[in-house]
Amino acid sequence: MKLKVLSEQDCEQVRLWRNECLESLRTPFPLTKEQQAEFYHNTVCNRAARARYWGIHMDPYEKCPDGELIGMCGIENIEQENRRGEISIIMDPQCRGEGHGTQAVELLLEQGFMYLNLENIWGEVYENNPAIEFWKKIIKKYSPDYEPIWLDCMKYYNGQYWDGLWFNVEKIDYLKATKPTMGACADTVIFDECCGEEKNEHIWII
Ligand SMILES: CC(C)(COP(=O)(O)OP(=O)(O)OC[C@H]1O[C@@H](n2cnc3c(N)ncnc32)[C@H](O)[C@@H]1OP(=O)(O)O)[C@@H](O)C(=O)NCCC(=O)NCCS
Repeated sequence: MKLKVLSEQDCEQVRLWRNECLESLRTPFPLTKEQQAEFYHNTVCNRAARARYWGIHMDPYEKCPDGELIGMCGIENIEQENRRGEISIIMDPQCRGEGHGTQAVELLLEQGFMYLNLENIWGEVYENNPAIEFWKKIIKKYSPDYEPIWLDCMKYYNGQYWDGLWFNVEKIDYLKATKPTMGACADTVIFDECCGEEKNEHIWII
């Protein structure tokens, strides 16, 4: 799998997927082709935008040398001054439940932490999202000590308010959970201010 530059055609394909799962998304109405084209030109192609998006592609094969588009992911609401951003992902409904979303999140976190120089990447998932278990697994993988934070009434859909699960992945936890392709592993002693004592930490130095 690879994350690639998003084309306008990819973006239009994603519009069709997103219009079918409005209960899970923050914007609760279907987008027109024109609105999606505007998003592509004003945000995806805007170097100064506070967001970066990628197309998620399968590895290429003979009949499809660019690798099939199976999703789109991005980091939105980027605050460079606070070195944080919000995770966003949508997969082709035909390709869900096959582990691709998990793999794409790993590649996306790599982009956010190792290339955009973010320190925290956060997300919000509504309790009515059928894939909430997906996010619980992501949280467990990258933030195992994390206590889930439930926020009241974050989404209004179909005449009802739904709570939101808010989570955050810190770069240090991402580095512990993955093995970056660069850098080296080292043990270091960190002073834990909460406990007032020193702790051994196993970290990746980039
Ligand atoms: C959320 C989403 C990206 C997950 O992608 P995916 O490719 O289906 O995820 P994976 O196949 O990697 O799933 C990983 C795990 O989560 C579980 N999971 C994923 N979707 C699930 C669902 N709808 N119900 C229950 N479990 C689910 C899988 O069973 C899998 O568990 P396993 O590791 O024990 O097999 C995809 O469902 C999607 O695009 N949803 C619509 C858009 C959306 O909700 N975006 C996020 C907004 S916050």
